[in-house]
Amino acid sequence: MIVLITGASSGLGAALANVFIDRKATVIGVSRRSTALPIHSYNADVSVENQCVQLIRHVISEYGRIDILINNAGRGNYASVEDTTTQMWHEIFAVNVDSMFWLTREALPHMRSCNSGHIVNIASTAGTIGFPYNAAYVAAKHAAVGFTAALRTELMGTDINATVVCPAGVITDWGNVTTGGSINALYAKAIPRSRVIAREQGLSLAPLFKLVAADSAAQTIVDSIDGGRCNDIFTHEGSRDLAVQATINRIELEERHRALFLAMQEVYQADHE
Ligand SMILES: NC(=O)c1ccc[n+]([C@@H]2O[C@H](COP(=O)([O-])OP(=O)(O)OC[C@H]3O[C@@H](n4cnc5c(N)ncnc54)[C@H](OP(=O)(O)O)[C@@H]3O)[C@@H](O)[C@H]2O)c1
Repeated sequence: MIVLITGASSGLGAALANVFIDRKATVIGVSRRSTALPIHSYNADVSVENQCVQLIRHVISEYGRIDILINNAGRGNYASVEDTTTQMWHEIFAVNVDSMFWLTREALPHMRSCNSGHIVNIASTAGTIGFPYNAAYVAAKHAAVGFTAALRTELMGTDINATVVCPAGVITDWGNVTTGGSINALYAKAIPRSRVIAREQGLSLAPLFKLVAADSAAQTIVDSIDGGRCNDIFTHEGSRDLAVQATINRIELEERHRALFLAMQEVYQADHE
């Protein structure tokens, strides 16, 4: 089995690579940094269209097929809407969304000729729910969810699958390396402050997800896609319920987070005075 994973140099992508290695797959891992994993490494910047096209051509010519394409490379941002520069917006979309479109479009004719393959797009809970101070990322991950849903309708009647994954917090570098500053630092200050606000204003505490180890999230993802066609994957307990609530009553969902979002406003404003 030939598995192509973008963003395999760290975090969830590296953990996914390890799960597939254990299952005796040939893993081609793509990133800008090199990796010590025992995989076939390919250096590319997936936010550049031509590098995505060359990557797929390389894999098909060297390995003959792509059984699973995992569009995992991604990056978050930390900025209010007013502070989001056009460059930041485009960079976040390029790595999280454009790359998945370019790689999928290039891989599809090959998958159609074999009538097999699975495209797995790593989105986020931020692809179903809004969170403040990373609107570019939230919009990009909503785009990833919509793209995958549309793709699946085009693949109906074929044996090619498309699945989107919506993890909540996974223990990786992700929240420390967000463009514009660390969004982990925002949450680290805002969560304790939200408890004070909740007490003072008689609000409930926001539903927060327990962080999950990358290995465990990767195992859940691979187990879920193992059977072929599958529904959207939620790796964290309770995150599917919040996504459902977001589609039914978004205002109610936001109100459940009021203490946290007010705390985040305070922290953001203090950090950007
Ligand atoms: N961690 C979380 O809590 C969480 C939650 C929900 C969703 N996600 C999503 O999960 C995916 C993996 O993130 P992670 O948590 O594992 O973060 P991470 O440890 O920061 O990994 C991100 C990976 O993407 C690669 N990457 C970034 N920009 C790239 C580019 N332009 N070209 C090629 N590769 C690039 C990085 O490699 P190089 O820097 O070497 O290029 C790295 O391997 C992302 O799509 C993220 O949005 C994460």
